[in-house]
Amino acid sequence: MVKVVVGTQWGDEGKGKVIDYLAKDCDIVARYQGGANAGHTVITNNKKYIFHLIPSGILYPDKICILGNGVVVDPAALLSEISNLKKEKIKLNKRFFISENLHLTLPYHKLLDQIEDKKRGRGKLGTTGRGIGTTYTDNYARLGIRVVDFLNEKVFREKLRVSLKLKNYLLKEYYEEKVYSLEKISREYRVYRKQIKGYVIDTSLYLNQAIRKGKNILAEGAQGTFLDIDFGTYPYVTASNPIAGGVCTGLGIGPTKIDKVIGVAKAYTTRVGKGPFPTEFKDEFGEKIRRLGNEFGATTGRPRRCGWFDAVLVKQAAIVNGLSSLAVTKLDVLNSLDKIKIAVGYRYQRRKINRFPNSFEVFSHCQPIYEEVPGWRRELSGIKNYRDLPKKTKNYLKRIEELTEVKISLISTGPQRQDTILL
Ligand code: GDP
Ligand code: IMO
Ligand code: MG
Repeated sequence: MVKVVVGTQWGDEGKGKVIDYLAKDCDIVARYQGGANAGHTVITNNKKYIFHLIPSGILYPDKICILGNGVVVDPAALLSEISNLKKEKIKLNKRFFISENLHLTLPYHKLLDQIEDKKRGRGKLGTTGRGIGTTYTDNYARLGIRVVDFLNEKVFREKLRVSLKLKNYLLKEYYEEKVYSLEKISREYRVYRKQIKGYVIDTSLYLNQAIRKGKNILAEGAQGTFLDIDFGTYPYVTASNPIAGGVCTGLGIGPTKIDKVIGVAKAYTTRVGKGPFPTEFKDEFGEKIRRLGNEFGATTGRPRRCGWFDAVLVKQAAIVNGLSSLAVTKLDVLNSLDKIKIAVGYRYQRRKINRFPNSFEVFSHCQPIYEEVPGWRRELSGIKNYRDLPKKTKNYLKRIEELTEVKISLISTGPQRQDTILL
C-alpha cells in the first residue's frame, strides 16, 4: 500500500503532524521533493521536533525513512539535523537512506538564491534562501551534482570545477560578489562525504522491492499544491512538484503503485512569503488568528499571512492531486469565533469565477465571495470521536466536504498526536 500525504494550500498545513500520526501503521516514510525549505513539526510527549529534511516518521524507532531522488539536499543542513537527532538518542543506522540520484545543494546555490531574489526588487518571491530553486535549476541545466557523483571524489571535483567556472564568472562579473574556491569547497565536502556515504542507496530499487513485499509506504509531500511549480500561483511558487504526481518522479515508483492520496488542509488558510492570497485578513483579525494558531514559519520564523478557508483552492487541489480524502487540521484555532467564513468563489471585475484561474493577473485581482457559518464557541480538545464534536463544528466540516467534493478522513484538534479524530 502506498499512501501519499500532500499539502492542499500554500504549505504548513500540518503535514508533519498528520504524517507522524499515519506513520504508526506504515513501514517506510519517504520524502519525494523539496529540501530544507520545508519545516514539518511533530510534537510527542510535549517535545517538539521540526524536520527540514529528515522524514517525519523518524521518531518511531522501527520505521525506515528515505529521501528520494526528487529531494535536494544541503549536506550541512542534513548533517546538522542528524546530529540533533543523535543527541536525542534517535538512531538512524540501517533505517535512514538517501537516493544516489538526489541533487546536492552547494554553497553557491544558497548565495545565488538570496542574491537573485533580492535583485527582483518589488517582484521578490520571498524564498527561504536555502538554495532550493538554484539547485533544481542546475539539474535542468545539466550542471547539477548528484550524490552518486559526489561519492567519487575525482568525479565530484571535475563536476565542481566546471560548475564553479560558470558560477564564479556570474558572481564576480555580474553580481560583483565573492567567488568560491574549488579547494575550499572540496575540503568542506570531503568531511560531509565521510558522514553521508553510509546512508546512500538506490532508493527507487529499495522502494519497489518493498512494494513487492507488501510493505506500507507513506510518501511525505513538502510545501503544498499552490506552491507547485506547474499548478501553483506561478511565479510565486517553489521549484518542485509537491503535488501527488511528484511522487512518481521523486521516488521512482510507477503511478500504478499509488493507492491513496490524502490532502492536508488547514481549517483556514496561511501563506508565508509573497504572492496572491484572496482570502487574506487585512486587519487586526489576522493578528488574532496568527496568535491563536501560532502562525510563524517553522523554517524562517517569518510571520505567516492568515485568511479564511478557500474552498475554490482546495477543490482545485482535489482535482490535480486526485485526492482520496482530506485531513483537516487546526480546527481548534477557530474555537472562539462567532462566525466563520468560507470562500466559495471569486469576483473578478464584473464576472463570477468558481474555479481556480491559472492566470496570475486574474487570480491576483480576485475578490472572494464568502459564505458565512456560525462558530461553535467550544473547546475541542479531548474529543476522540466525530459524533462528540459540536453540531456546528460538524456543519463546518460538512460544508468543506460539499464544496471541495472530497470526504474528510482525519480531523486534527491540536498539535499533539493524540489530538486526532479518525473518521
Ligand atoms: P507542515 O509544514 O505542513 O508540516 O506544517 P508546520 O509544522 O510548518 O506548521 C503547522 C503548525 O501547526 C505546527 O506548529 C504544528 O505543531 C501545528 N499544528 C498541527 N496540527 C495542529 C492542530 O490541529 N491544532 C493546532 N493548534 N496546531 C496544530
Ligand atoms: P512546508 O513543507 C510554506 C515558500 C517560501 C516562498 C516560496 C519559494 O513546511 O509546508 P523556496 O525557498 O522554496 O524557493 O521559496 O515557497 N515555501 C514554503 N511555504 N511551507 C513550506 O514548506 C515552504 N517551502 C517553501 O516561503 O514563498
Ligand atoms: Mg512547514
